[in-house]
Amino acid sequence: MSTTTIIINIARLVNIREQSYLLSGAALAELPCIEDAFLLVEDGMIAEYGAMFELEIKVPQLPKHVIEAQGRFVLPAWCDSHTHLVFSASRENEFIDKIKGMSYAEIAAKGGGILNSAQKLNDASEDELFIQAWKRLQEVSKLGTGAIEIKSGYGLSVAGELKMLKVIKKLKEKSNLLIKSTFLGAHTYPIQYRENHQGYIDSIINEMLPVIAGKQLADYIDVFCETGFFSPQEMETICKAGMAYGLKPKLHVNQLNSIGGIEMGLNLNAVSLDHLESLTREEIVQLGKQSNNNGNETICTLLPTAALFLRMDFPDARALINAGCAVALASDFNPGSSPSGNMNLVVALSCIQMKMLPEEAINAATINGAYAMELGNETGSITVGKKANLIFTKPIPSLAYLPYCFGTNLIDRVMIGGEFI
Ligand code: NIG
Ligand code: FE
Repeated sequence: MSTTTIIINIARLVNIREQSYLLSGAALAELPCIEDAFLLVEDGMIAEYGAMFELEIKVPQLPKHVIEAQGRFVLPAWCDSHTHLVFSASRENEFIDKIKGMSYAEIAAKGGGILNSAQKLNDASEDELFIQAWKRLQEVSKLGTGAIEIKSGYGLSVAGELKMLKVIKKLKEKSNLLIKSTFLGAHTYPIQYRENHQGYIDSIINEMLPVIAGKQLADYIDVFCETGFFSPQEMETICKAGMAYGLKPKLHVNQLNSIGGIEMGLNLNAVSLDHLESLTREEIVQLGKQSNNNGNETICTLLPTAALFLRMDFPDARALINAGCAVALASDFNPGSSPSGNMNLVVALSCIQMKMLPEEAINAATINGAYAMELGNETGSITVGKKANLIFTKPIPSLAYLPYCFGTNLIDRVMIGGEFI
């Protein structure tokens, strides 16, 4: 049975695009909107939209189901293109260690951090992991997230990585959210391979990847390229093995240090390069140069809640945008560096601390986030034929009010595939 819903008297319909494309540089500041608008949803998809004065012409026969949205802004749901949402336990003890002065790298070096999460994940059952991850998914969808990428990387063993990827697969099957899955076996070296890096890389390539590819458990491959973790050359070896199975790279680079991950990531034609807290002038120029490549450029995904939580310098979003880059924003939801998947906070922080304009931040968290998951044709803007994944705000005076009132939940309702959640 087909279902049709009309949403009327929307104070402002945000990010309407006849055709959507990845936004780079100055284009990020353009956020097309319609004041006093309507939106027609048919079978879970956006079927028509326009100004209220055009309603009679564009929708001659009004459907029975009418939603009144007076005073409210309607936006495309957030597209969170970088998370580690499947994990087994929180790590607030390390949070205290950090308050007392230990660094992220020091905590990792003494077996905390990712290894701590790996131990707990390997001890947990697939069902337990699914239940916890499902709760987190519900929580972030109520905060406006309609599409999300989820990584493995807390298994660090054949069984553990497969268990995580199976949980993500189950989330894909059971949820109405659009979900992409990324294999991050190369998140860190497990203890037994600490002195034998090649041994672990061989296990990733020969034991994990063939099974993952055979069972279609991942869409992308990721590597944590960082001092003390994986070198650019190791990242190249792992990515090339993944690419042979059709997994495109989406990579962690330049979070703590600049060690050549960007140059290698660009050579590998990565879909996105994520983090970028530590950037050299040359790297910004390099990232800018590769843009304007017919939309086929590597996206710069910034994760401001991770920088906030780790008390690090925020990535230089202004320099990247001025250089012409396509910037996306994501939450990095994980127990170690960003125990929050709240994209509203991500958007607010990018305005407050990275000096992005509200229009730029909203584009980066919607349409560009969608492209960072190769979902640009399905979500991320108000475009006919895209999924009706929508945020309805509470009555607000302006768009800038959203990041400005950063501590208040201004989301009233969220629609996923045409249904309120
Ligand atoms: O993206 N940097 C690497 N990975 C995660 C943190 C993982 C953890 O600490 O558990 C990140 O910040
Ligand atoms: Fe991450």
